[in-house]
Amino acid sequence: MKKNVKNNVYWIGYMDWDLQTFHGDDYTIHHGSAQNAYLIQEEKTVLMDTVWAPHQFEFVENLQSEIDLNTIDYIVVNHGENDHSGSLPALMKLIPDTPIYCTANSVKSLEGQYGKQGWNFHVVHTGDSLDIGHGKKLIFVEMTFLHWPDSMATYLTQDNILFSMDAFGQHIAVEGLFEDQANQEQIFNEAMRYYANIVAPFSPLVTKKVKEIVAMDLPIDMIAPSHGAIWRENPLKIVEAYASWANRYQEDQITVVYGTEWHGTEKLAYALAKEIHKQSPQTVVKVFNVDHTEKDDIVFEIFKSKAIAVGSPTILNGILASMAGFLYYLKSLRFKGKKAAVFGCYGWSGEGNKVLREMLEKAGFDVISDEIKSSFNPEKEEYDQIPQLVKTLL
Ligand code: FEO
Repeated sequence: MKKNVKNNVYWIGYMDWDLQTFHGDDYTIHHGSAQNAYLIQEEKTVLMDTVWAPHQFEFVENLQSEIDLNTIDYIVVNHGENDHSGSLPALMKLIPDTPIYCTANSVKSLEGQYGKQGWNFHVVHTGDSLDIGHGKKLIFVEMTFLHWPDSMATYLTQDNILFSMDAFGQHIAVEGLFEDQANQEQIFNEAMRYYANIVAPFSPLVTKKVKEIVAMDLPIDMIAPSHGAIWRENPLKIVEAYASWANRYQEDQITVVYGTEWHGTEKLAYALAKEIHKQSPQTVVKVFNVDHTEKDDIVFEIFKSKAIAVGSPTILNGILASMAGFLYYLKSLRFKGKKAAVFGCYGWSGEGNKVLREMLEKAGFDVISDEIKSSFNPEKEEYDQIPQLVKTLL
């Protein structure tokens, strides 16, 4: 069933309360996810995006229960990734000639995924517009690399809605659609977690794009992303948040991440947390065992942090495989302006700290020279080094 968004704009997506992971298992979903597609019924009928392939038949049936598919004048594809385009093949079998408005790169991503179907593509660029009747038009804004090269946003005049695609969205299911219909703090946190794990590598482009959107001087009453809640109470709050997150964002927080074999490195992690709090009680300290916490949740905490401490025992001349995998993921997110320290226990050779240091440097962290390296279990000598390391880290 469609749900009204504003005037003649309706939500026609899929509220997925059971989604557990996204992007393979790279991103965990804690509160479901709204896959948002929209229907605009002015003199022209426009379908804005679709939903993920596993729900394609339900999506098409739902659409058919609301409208005669042959009355769809235009389809807008803001982004070709499968979670938004996955129902197109089933839909286009029924209405093969319907014009699809999208970027040139979306033609590539759609044809790459679904083959050359001969769909009726109309390539658009920033500033191009499409009249949809009743004096309203759609204005297209390319959002290249936010987060795919094919991404774009679409603005609906008079209703002043920015359909922002992945940007400004979050993975959360909201039955009432709008951010004021659910826990706003949770929605905002999920938006930040989404940014940290998916948008952060493109932060310089976010800064540029936010400026460009502001310069277009379009009144924005609502931001309708393709995942999660629609922003209507104060839609510019999330735009301002993006501008802030894109600019070497950090809070007064230090995150300690460790893996442990026989609990020696864990003891160091806990001692570090205690010392951070002792030296700077106002600083938020969080500690995570890399084997017991989802990597995207740790990344969210690191995104908020001004510094991190990372520990692993030496294993086979290296570090724990789980920590190596985590640091490989962290590197891809290209965080900037954060300090890091390394620590760990070893039995015989002790290369762990060196490996941690190299991986963190490659990940863009400013790794301090102080470190804690403990032969077998940490003793007084190692614990005595912690205050100086923490002082440097703060
Ligand atoms: Fe980039 Fe929601 O897909």
